[in-house]
Amino acid sequence: MSEAPGVGILGTGSYLPSRVLSNFDLEKMVETSDEWIRTRTGIRERRLAAGGEFTSDMAVAAARRALEASGTRPEDLDMIVNATITPDMPWPSTACLIQEKLGAAKAFAFDVSAACSGFLYGLTTAHNFILSGTASRALVLGAEKLSSIIDWKDRNTCVLFGDGAGAAVLGPSERRRVLSVHLGSDGGAAELLCMPGGGSRRPTSPETLAGGLHFLKMEGKEVFKFAVKAMAAAAEEAIAKAGLKPSDIRLLIPHQANIRIVEATAKRLELPMEKVFVNLDKYGNTSAASVGIALDEVEAQGLLKPGDKVALVAFGAGLTWASVILEW
Ligand code: COA
Repeated sequence: MSEAPGVGILGTGSYLPSRVLSNFDLEKMVETSDEWIRTRTGIRERRLAAGGEFTSDMAVAAARRALEASGTRPEDLDMIVNATITPDMPWPSTACLIQEKLGAAKAFAFDVSAACSGFLYGLTTAHNFILSGTASRALVLGAEKLSSIIDWKDRNTCVLFGDGAGAAVLGPSERRRVLSVHLGSDGGAAELLCMPGGGSRRPTSPETLAGGLHFLKMEGKEVFKFAVKAMAAAAEEAIAKAGLKPSDIRLLIPHQANIRIVEATAKRLELPMEKVFVNLDKYGNTSAASVGIALDEVEAQGLLKPGDKVALVAFGAGLTWASVILEW
């Protein structure tokens, strides 16, 4: 069993923008069909933020719910870690903008960039800051306005993603306790999923704009192959570190990218789909927000009871992968 007792999730929250974009809406935008999207991905619809609604706004809405659920006042937070690949601005960090909007004056705040693994990288970071005594109460966020970096003319990518935010407050607790974590990265495959323009390598210019380098680019098939292996392997590592077997897991909460990836992961872990939480049909892939939103829905639906073992697992651009095991 892990040597890390006593840090747990005190409360969760999420926020989804109200605008729904269905597969049928997408049929009018690119050459695709509801049938193609559903059978290849499992996605039926996704949410889109309003024009004047930014990543920090969605994060703040999710954060307020998590703070309330945990009985925490913003001024009691020591730390805010926000996972995103769609910050309000390249810098300063969106976490600092969130801190200001919440009025969390005592907290230090920073972003983590681990794409779809971001929420679990953030959770692990906060967990370790609390274990080390540097912070006592931390707000972990995953928030994305992916619609701002999607090429709405590219059917290979535009059908997959959505906007939203998930949040968790972490602190000393024996409930919903972190039992173990496992993180990994492979920068050798960075080009498979990236936004090539707008950084120091290719600063924004008429050429980068003309080439669409400010949009998300993806080698879908390669990412798919990687995801199937990485998700199961990451979960297996974290489960073993917690001294458990996959069959001990009551609920798997995976990154919500594609139902085929989720099903393949469950199969490798020999977990029946009744033990796997899925909401990607409603929201698509919300990257760093995905696991946080799912965790909040699991809590709201009362799917778990004290003592249940839960595996959170994700993979994403970087490439990155992550898994966290909780005891509810
Ligand atoms: N509608 C209709 N056709 C589409 C389409 C769409 N929205 N998107 C792509 N196609 C076409 C392609 O152009 C290609 O056509 P071609 O063979 O004539 O070139 C064909 O469909 C590809 O089909 P297929 O090989 O069956 O696709 P797939 O099974 O690999 O599924 C993805 C495609 C993108 C759904 C899948 O590869 C995937 O999910 N990859 C991982 C993506 C992901 O999760 N990214 C985020 C990581 S965090």
